[in-house]
Amino acid sequence: MTDRIETYIDANRDRFIEELKQWMRFPSVSAQRDHDGDTRACAEWLRDHLKGLGFEAQLVDIGGQPIVRASKKGKSPRCVMIYGHYDVQPEDPIDQWQTPPFEPTVKDGTLYGRGATDDKGQVFTHVKAVESLLKTEGQLPCEVVFLLEGEEESGGDALGRYIKQARAELKPDVIVISDTTMYDASTPAITYGLRGIVAFEFTVKGPATDVHSGAFGGAIANPAMVVAQILAQCVSRDGKVLVPHFYDDVAPLEDWERESFRKLNFNEGGLARELNVPRLHGEPGYSALERLWARPTFEVNGIFGGYQGQRSKTIIPASATAKLSIRLVPHQNPDRIRDLAFEHIRSVCPDTVRLELTQFGASPPVLFDVNNPVILASQEALRQGFGHDAVFIRCGGSIPVVNTFVEQLGCPVILMGFGLDSDRPHGPNEHFSLDSFIRGTKAAASLLHMV
Ligand code: BES
Ligand code: MN
Ligand code: MN
Repeated sequence: MTDRIETYIDANRDRFIEELKQWMRFPSVSAQRDHDGDTRACAEWLRDHLKGLGFEAQLVDIGGQPIVRASKKGKSPRCVMIYGHYDVQPEDPIDQWQTPPFEPTVKDGTLYGRGATDDKGQVFTHVKAVESLLKTEGQLPCEVVFLLEGEEESGGDALGRYIKQARAELKPDVIVISDTTMYDASTPAITYGLRGIVAFEFTVKGPATDVHSGAFGGAIANPAMVVAQILAQCVSRDGKVLVPHFYDDVAPLEDWERESFRKLNFNEGGLARELNVPRLHGEPGYSALERLWARPTFEVNGIFGGYQGQRSKTIIPASATAKLSIRLVPHQNPDRIRDLAFEHIRSVCPDTVRLELTQFGASPPVLFDVNNPVILASQEALRQGFGHDAVFIRCGGSIPVVNTFVEQLGCPVILMGFGLDSDRPHGPNEHFSLDSFIRGTKAAASLLHMV
C-alpha cells in the first residue's frame, strides 16, 4: 500500500466513522416484516453512497430483500467481487443494551450498535477502501463489483437465485468477503472453512389445551417431557451426536491440520472465563478449536412449552417445541443430515403424542485450498493493514451463499474477516473495534492492488 493511501485513510478516519454510523441507523432487520421499509432504505442508502463514489449501482429486486449491486472498471481487467450483507439480526433482548442498538455510539475506540461487526462495519471497510484508492490514484487497480445481500441473517435465497440467473455476466476472478473474525485482537486471519447448517424445529402435541396436571397427570404423556426425552436421545452427555449415520460422511481431521490448530496455542481456560462457564464441554478426543471448526454439532437454540409465568401453575402443556440447528462439516450433505435427523426424531418419539417437524434454512459446509495464490496475496494485504502476520483459521459459523458462489462461479473465495467472536454479534451490545475498522480498510485497499 502506498503512503498516500494510508495517509488518506488516517486523515479521513472520523468522517468514515460518521458515515458508517449513519448507515447503521437503518434497522435493517431482515427477519421482521415490519422492518421491510427500513431494510430497503438501508439498501438505497448504500446504493446512493456507491453512486457518489462513481460506481454504477442499482438495487436488484427478485423477491425477498433487495440486493445492492455496484460495479466500476479499473486499470487491469481483473475483477474482484466483494460480498457482504447489510441486513442485521433482531435487536432483542432490548433491555440488555447499554446504548440503543440503532443509535450507534463510540466509546473508548469501539463502535457499539447492531451491525457494527456483523456485517455493516466490515462491509464498510471495502467501501472506504475503494474511495481511498479512487481519491488518491484516480482509478481502481482492477474492476470491483459489490454484491451485497439483505437476507443473510434470515435464511433468504434471493442472492442464491440471482447468482444462478446472472452467472453468465458475473465473471469475477476472485470473491472477497469480510464477515468472519480475526484470530485475536492483534492477529489477522484468513478463514479457509465454514461450517454448514440445517435449522429446524419440532413440536410435540398432546391434549387439545393445557389441562390440570393433578386431574390428568399419569394418564397421558406430557409434551414438554417428551421433548426433553427426544433431545436426550439426540446428543450424549459428553456431546456426541446420537443420530444414526450422522458421522458417516465427516472428513476426519488431517494431521497437518491438527498440528496447525495446535500451533495457534488457543487458551481454552480463557474461553471458559470469557463466557463465564465453569469449564468447556464437548466431544471427547478433540481440542476446543477442533470441535468448533472441524466437528459437527447438534444444538438446541430454544425450547419452550407450558407455563412461563411467576410461581407455579399445575398443568400438562398442550404442546412443547424445540428449535434446533445442526452445524455441518465436510463432507456432510444438508439434505441427507436433515433426513437422518428427522427419521431419528420420529423413531424415538412415542406414539402417545403427535409430532410435527419443520425445516428452515440449510447450507453446505465449505473448505478452501490454503495454497491458492490469491489466498497468499491476501496474507500480504493483511500484513500491510495490520502490521502482523495473518494466521489460517476455520470458522464455526456459516455464510450460506458461499457454497453457491463456489458451485456457480467456480472462482477462489477469500474470507478476510476483521471482527472478533467477543464482539457479541447477534447479542446485545454488539460492537466493532475502530482500530480494526481502519486497519481493515487499509488491508482491503492493499488487496485490490495485489489480486
Ligand atoms: N457473520 C456470520 C457468520 C459467522 C459466525 C462468522 C460466527 C464468524 C463467527 C453470519 O452473519 C451468520 O450469523 N450466519 C448465520 C447463518 C444462519 C442464519 C443461516 C449463522 O452462522 O448462524
Ligand atoms: Mn455476518
Ligand atoms: Mn450474523
